[in-house]
Amino acid sequence: MEWMKQASTSAEKSDAVFFFVFGLSLLFLVFITALMIYFVIRYSKKRHPKAAQIEGHTGLEIAWTTIPLVLFLAIFYYGWTNYEYMRLAPRDSMVIKVTARQWSWSFEYPNGKQSKVLFAPLAKPMKLEVRSADVVHGFFVPSFRLKIDAVPSRANTTWFEATKLGSYDIECTVICGVDHSLMLSKVIVVPEDEFKAWYFGGENAPEPGKNLPAPAAVNPVNEPVGLVIMRAKGCLECHSIDGKPMVGPTLKGLLGLKEEVLVGKQTRTITVDEAYLRTSIQDPMREVVKGYPPAMPLDPLTDQELTDVVAYLKTLK
Ligand code: HEC
Repeated sequence: MEWMKQASTSAEKSDAVFFFVFGLSLLFLVFITALMIYFVIRYSKKRHPKAAQIEGHTGLEIAWTTIPLVLFLAIFYYGWTNYEYMRLAPRDSMVIKVTARQWSWSFEYPNGKQSKVLFAPLAKPMKLEVRSADVVHGFFVPSFRLKIDAVPSRANTTWFEATKLGSYDIECTVICGVDHSLMLSKVIVVPEDEFKAWYFGGENAPEPGKNLPAPAAVNPVNEPVGLVIMRAKGCLECHSIDGKPMVGPTLKGLLGLKEEVLVGKQTRTITVDEAYLRTSIQDPMREVVKGYPPAMPLDPLTDQELTDVVAYLKTLK
């Protein structure tokens, strides 16, 4: 039945185990409740004025040992085989690097493409290597029943194969700071041709999933490269480009600005130039702008990205 179809193969497996355990529990709930009611009536004081000592019953004891044992082993087997399925990605999976940071997700594909939403082709296995650039986060796609921690300095892996076109929520499940609840993204599942057209289509390829509802349009075209990189890297979660201070100072009009920075415990007055911009991005703890927390994650850009970002920042007058 189409409406019952889950969004990924692991969702189907996980739900099957859930309903198996749930069904068994329901059966036992009914059985035990009925038995209790029966005993209350059958052994009420009216019918049984005198209590009697009941001795052991070998047949019963064997039954209530073996039946639960078999049931528990069945639950274990079913759960284990499906857990294994969900843990071990098929060899032909496409490997995506997922980076969590305060407070956004970014995705990097094998050819170096990056995005803020996760684009995935229908019915193809996608392996996720989940990392964090700062604190512990939790990567969760409820519709796929997919959940894994994003921990600094190690990669946790998981995978999925989408079985239904659509747009599915990604959430963070670990309280990770003030904007934890805004740390949202989407998995956009599109037909394989549409995915390939984007994936192999170079810089200006239109993003897939335009005919799906909602926020596929995170990277409008014709933006300066530096801005696109900053979006993908989550810089704009903490920095505005229009003059408003956020978690970090605005990036507008930095070039030539005189600022006070803390180097260790010493305050220094500096004039922002290209070299300063580069170090404050690549090594954010070295010079910390006075009045702001040292909250910027250490998540260096490649040389090319840095050049593009700095070139863009210089245009923000
Ligand atoms: C978690 C929030 C956060 C993220 C994400 C973040 N920054 Fe920052 N950034 C800060 C804070 C806070 C400061 C001020 C303290 C400091 O200098 O370390 C800062 C300082 C800066 C400065 C120096 C500003 C000045 O006035 O001198 C630059 C430039 C900068 N960030 C660029 C970036 C870029 C580019 C990215 C993305 C690669 C980024 N930041 C990501 C929080 C963040």
